[in-house]
Amino acid sequence: MTTNPKRYTVTAALPYANGPVHIGHLAGVYLPADIYVRYLRLQNRDVKFICGSDEHGVPITIRAKREGITPQQAVDKYHELIKQSFGEFNISFDVYDRTSSAIHRETASDFFLKLYNDGKFIEQTTQQYYDEEAQQFLADRYITGTCPRCGNENAYGDQCENCGSSLNATDLINPKSTLSGLKPVLRETKHWYLPLNEYEPWLRAWIVEGHKNDWKPNVYGQCKSWIDQGLQPRAVTRDLDWGVPVPLPSAEGKVLYVWFDAPIGYISATKALTDDWEKYWKDPETKLVHFIGKDNIVFHCIIFPSMLKAHGDFILPENVPANEFLNLEGDKISTSRNWAVWLHEYLQDFPGKADVLRYALAANMPETKDNDFTWKDYQARNNNELLAILGNFINRAVVLTEKYYEGEVPARGELTDYDKEVLGVLEGMPLVIAAHIERFKFRDALGELMNLARLGNKYLADTEPWKLIKTDAARVKTILNIALQISGSLAILMEPFLPQSAAKLRGMLSMNPAMWADAGSAELLPAGHIIGKPELLFGKVEDAAVDAQVQKLLDTKKANTIASATVAPAKADITFDDFSKMDIRIGTILEAEKVAKTKKLLKLKIDTGLDQRTVVSGIAEFFSPEEIIGQQVSILVNLAPRDIKGITSQGMILMAENADGSLAFVQPGKPVANGGGVS
Ligand code: MF3
Ligand code: ZN
Repeated sequence: MTTNPKRYTVTAALPYANGPVHIGHLAGVYLPADIYVRYLRLQNRDVKFICGSDEHGVPITIRAKREGITPQQAVDKYHELIKQSFGEFNISFDVYDRTSSAIHRETASDFFLKLYNDGKFIEQTTQQYYDEEAQQFLADRYITGTCPRCGNENAYGDQCENCGSSLNATDLINPKSTLSGLKPVLRETKHWYLPLNEYEPWLRAWIVEGHKNDWKPNVYGQCKSWIDQGLQPRAVTRDLDWGVPVPLPSAEGKVLYVWFDAPIGYISATKALTDDWEKYWKDPETKLVHFIGKDNIVFHCIIFPSMLKAHGDFILPENVPANEFLNLEGDKISTSRNWAVWLHEYLQDFPGKADVLRYALAANMPETKDNDFTWKDYQARNNNELLAILGNFINRAVVLTEKYYEGEVPARGELTDYDKEVLGVLEGMPLVIAAHIERFKFRDALGELMNLARLGNKYLADTEPWKLIKTDAARVKTILNIALQISGSLAILMEPFLPQSAAKLRGMLSMNPAMWADAGSAELLPAGHIIGKPELLFGKVEDAAVDAQVQKLLDTKKANTIASATVAPAKADITFDDFSKMDIRIGTILEAEKVAKTKKLLKLKIDTGLDQRTVVSGIAEFFSPEEIIGQQVSILVNLAPRDIKGITSQGMILMAENADGSLAFVQPGKPVANGGGVS
């Protein structure tokens, strides 16, 4: 058995304050981190859980520009929204800070200066991409192009999110400015570089040799491949006006690169949390763990550790349990395409069900490969697992105790082999689950937790206390005592995963605060202890609720197709005379009915101001007769009459067509008297 570290510093990647957070964030980073930290706390370990908003860098300025607000306004807005969402999902940070804080600015500046003064940077004037129209240098996400490593055509100036490589903008093939869309030009500018190449031997020893067995294969593999490919000096400053100013007299108009300042944010946030912060960052007996998504691996395993090493005062991460990505209904989650389940929206649709989402995401966590979230799976996880297994077991145990013993825990009598076997599994469970969590195998841990609930269910189903009560009342006492010990242990062991439900269950069992070590005990709820009233831990998720979510996504897809559809090319020119031959008027639909034996046709009666006339229109797939009566429309009144299905149609209603083929009336912006001409 290895001894435990003296304390833990656990960080979760600082999310960019450039939009709300979604299920991908939760499943990839914040949920596993929270499970880990809650578990450590139950083990009475000294732990600080650190996070905050990443408020600098191009992702912020791009978003602000798109919304027509200042970067400061953007980060203020999203910082609050993100913080609130994490609170609602009970992500139990000890601090949720932000990188626009004064402490952070000072900490990041000092960090830079220490490296500068110690001669750790190289100063280089090089050619960098510049947008002549926007009149600015194109850092990071202001430039896209083809990744020289994997061929992804949408790689950013600092990173390719497809293959995870960190890039320099000048590595990109076919670079393009995201500001003007133009091909950028090269201009000279001076920056400070961290010579990562010099850290290569050290990184190789530390990671490739040192963490072969304890880092996750996906993390280790990426790191090894970058180190093997050779590292290059990396600029740590940028020509931008949003960020921490470079604290040097010769650096007017330059800020720290966001990936230089943001990870230092972990340190600043710890400072903001406690005066005692140094031991969490400087004592080698502290275990530092970074929870991140896979697109952050290079920064947390190569660049930030090199910065820490160059600085010299700080400890290094002992593990970086990065997750892969979560997809949504078979498609990559995307903020710009609105393809996401937003955390703040989920709780509006499923109030009180934060734990259900936590459960569905933990059970499907992308630990070793990308995974897919579907609403069907969400529903099944709730109805078939939380409700049918965990909730059902607890409910039986508590309700029967209430019914037979008025809520008093009965004493056990003599134990059968089956009882002993069940108590044996119960006793071993805390260790089994702990071992998985300590190895960042959260799905396996959750699986074992549910196995314990399954065992409880099976035990009750096999022993049938509800039948025995008539024939062998003494035996029922033993059975329910054991069922209650399992329930009490579940209340402890489920806390990292399902904190709200665990609290509810503790209340139901009138349990005193308990620690991980108390779980598994056959004396957790001693005979004579009075439990509380039964309540349902989980409710059913109905088909209608998940169908509505799927529909919402289908609507998003449709809106995206329309937005991205290409518009038909322009027709040949006509003369004004050609145009004025058309007599278009505003009219009102008086009557509407389906044309028998057709799918598409409606027969309309229109008041054109000139007369009341019949028009046959191919719009029945998009409008019901009832909904259009009384609406004003545009009608071409001098189109020669035509016979359609035996009806004489006198004119044509003007329609606008969407990319998906759906139709809309061309209507006046405000009411117009019938007969009003359109020109
Ligand atoms: N904001 C980054 C992202 O969302 C993560 C920053 S993590 C930190 O990808 F280490 F820099 F803080
Ligand atoms: Zn790539």
